[in-house]
Amino acid sequence: MNVAPIAYLNGSYLPLSEARVSPMDRGFLFADSVYEVVPAYDGKFFRLSEHLQRLRSSLGAIRLDPGIEDDRWGQILKGLVERNGGGDLAVYLQVTRGAPAERNLAALPDPAPTVFAHCISVKGVSEAIRKAGVTVGTATDNRWGACHIKSTALLANVLALQRVGRDAVEVILIRDGFLTEGGSSNVFVVRQGRVVTPAKDHRILAGITRQVVLEILSSEGVPTVEKSVPETDLRCADEIWITSSTREVWPVTQIDGETVGTGRPGSVWQRVHERYQTIKRPA
Ligand code: PDD
Repeated sequence: MNVAPIAYLNGSYLPLSEARVSPMDRGFLFADSVYEVVPAYDGKFFRLSEHLQRLRSSLGAIRLDPGIEDDRWGQILKGLVERNGGGDLAVYLQVTRGAPAERNLAALPDPAPTVFAHCISVKGVSEAIRKAGVTVGTATDNRWGACHIKSTALLANVLALQRVGRDAVEVILIRDGFLTEGGSSNVFVVRQGRVVTPAKDHRILAGITRQVVLEILSSEGVPTVEKSVPETDLRCADEIWITSSTREVWPVTQIDGETVGTGRPGSVWQRVHERYQTIKRPA
C-alpha cells in the first residue's frame, strides 16, 4: 500500500488525510449507513460480485439508493486499488444517507448520499497464527434484530470486544444459549470430523468468506451442516475457526482461557486454509 494513501470521496480521489465529511452527515450522527470490505490479491478483487450483491441488499434494506450500478462500483474500487499501488489489500466502502441541513431522525427529502472508500490491509494468516492459532473470548450478543444488514452501527460489537480479555483478537457472540457470530467474523465449529456453522438469518451477517469456506468444505467432502449451534458445542469443540474477508480463516486455539482441541490449529482447518490460498489467487 502507498505511504500516502489515496481515498475516494463523492466522485473524487484524494489523499486520505484531506478527505472531509460534514459533522451533519447522518452516517456520523445516526450510523445511518452501510459498508462493505472487499479483499484484493495482486490488485485483483476476490468475490467482487458477491460483495456488490451484498452491498445492494444492505442498501435496499435501509432504503438508500445512491444510483450507482455494479459496473460503476467496480470502476470506483479498481481506481482506488490502482492508486494505492495494487498488491494485497482490501477496500473499505461506506455509503451514508448524506448530510442534511438539520439533525432530524426523519430523512425527507433525502440529501445526496455520501460515498467514501479507502484501502485497508488484508491480515491473512500470518506464520504465528498458522503455528499457534488465536485467542478469543465470548460475550452476550445484545445487538439489534437486523444483523444481516452490513450496517456501520457497530457499538454493541465494539463493547462486546471490550468485554473480553486483552489477548482476545475476537469476541464470539452468544444469544439465548446459541452461537451467532464473531464481532466482525463468522464462526465454524468442528467436532469429530463434522463441521457446523450457524444458518443464515437476521441474527448474522451472510459472510462472503463463510460462503467460500462452505464451498471448499463441500468440494473436499467434509460433512458440514448449517444449523443452530449451542454454546456447549463451543466448549467441547475439536476446532473453532473465525472467518472474514480481511482475516480469511483463523484457527482458534483458546476460548475464554480454555484450550480448544489439541491447542494447535487442527487438520480440517489446515485443509481449508490451503485450498483458500489457491482460490484467492487464481493462477
Ligand atoms: N467484517 N460478521 C460480521 C459481524 C462482520 O462484520 C463480518 C466482516 C463478517 C464476515 O463477513 P465477510 O466474510 O464477508 O468479510 C461476519 C468486516 C471484514 C469488517 O467489519 O471489517
